[in-house]
Amino acid sequence: MERSELLRHLLGKEELLRAIGLLGPQGRTDARKSKKLREVAGFCELILKYVRRVLAKKDFVRIVEFSCGKSYLGIVLLGLLEELERKQAELVGVDVNAALVEKCRELARALGLERAQFVAGRTLEFQSELDFDVALALHACDTATDEAIARGIQLGAPLIMAVPCCQNQIRGQIKSGHPLTAMTEFGPVRYRLANLLTDALRAQFLRSAGYYVEMLEIGSPRLTPKNLCICARKVKRRTAGGRDEGYRALRSFFGVRPRLEQFCPGVVGHGEG
Ligand SMILES: C[S@@+](CC[C@H](N)C(=O)[O-])C[C@H]1O[C@@H](n2cnc3c(N)ncnc32)[C@H](O)[C@@H]1O
Repeated sequence: MERSELLRHLLGKEELLRAIGLLGPQGRTDARKSKKLREVAGFCELILKYVRRVLAKKDFVRIVEFSCGKSYLGIVLLGLLEELERKQAELVGVDVNAALVEKCRELARALGLERAQFVAGRTLEFQSELDFDVALALHACDTATDEAIARGIQLGAPLIMAVPCCQNQIRGQIKSGHPLTAMTEFGPVRYRLANLLTDALRAQFLRSAGYYVEMLEIGSPRLTPKNLCICARKVKRRTAGGRDEGYRALRSFFGVRPRLEQFCPGVVGHGEG
């Protein structure tokens, strides 16, 4: 289903949208709700495409959504996997905000969603004996996206998909000390470059961890500037050596120390280049 078709499909689910708070009474909406719904629809379109490609043989799909917030994404996705892909699905949502997690639990109870569970806590500390097929994060603030990628790798998820939010950690590290300081001396340029560099490093890190990675968009940048999606699927057989070259080259060129390395040690070497 194309993105616009998927959005129309979701707009037809007034009861669900009202329950999760993406539609007001009498079908009323506002700019914030409408934007979030479009972001969710755009992300779901990509997730379903990957599920079809990577998990085609599975009748049951277990998802972990990190930094789930009100869990718009996870709850909408559960329904879509069942209705459109004919797959049974289970969701574990994780968020550090215990009050939000309680709201998600209440919502799941009200919707009769026994297959949705929610855990209060930091992503990096999330522990589970379960096997997850998909690890997701939508607009997880700053290094919370790195935590989601790290835990996705450590949990061995075949599919990791993240649409990052703000990227602050590296911005302060690229003011000087690399060959492109003629660019990064300008604040807004440094800001934009830091965003791109952070996401490219994340993609290269996933590649180093044995994933095939693509960067796609969940919608137009006019919908949200935070529209890049890192899509990573685990490659079955790792080729010998050299997988962290891209990551090490970028890290060395800019002289940066991304937090993702600390969150997920042992994936890339520490030497220069
Ligand atoms: C911008 S909101 C996005 C929420 C949701 N994914 C969405 O798109 O509507 C970011 C969420 O990340 C949560 N968060 C921030 N840092 C976290 C961490 N380290 N571990 C788990 N959750 C975190 C916050 O509590 C908040 O609910």
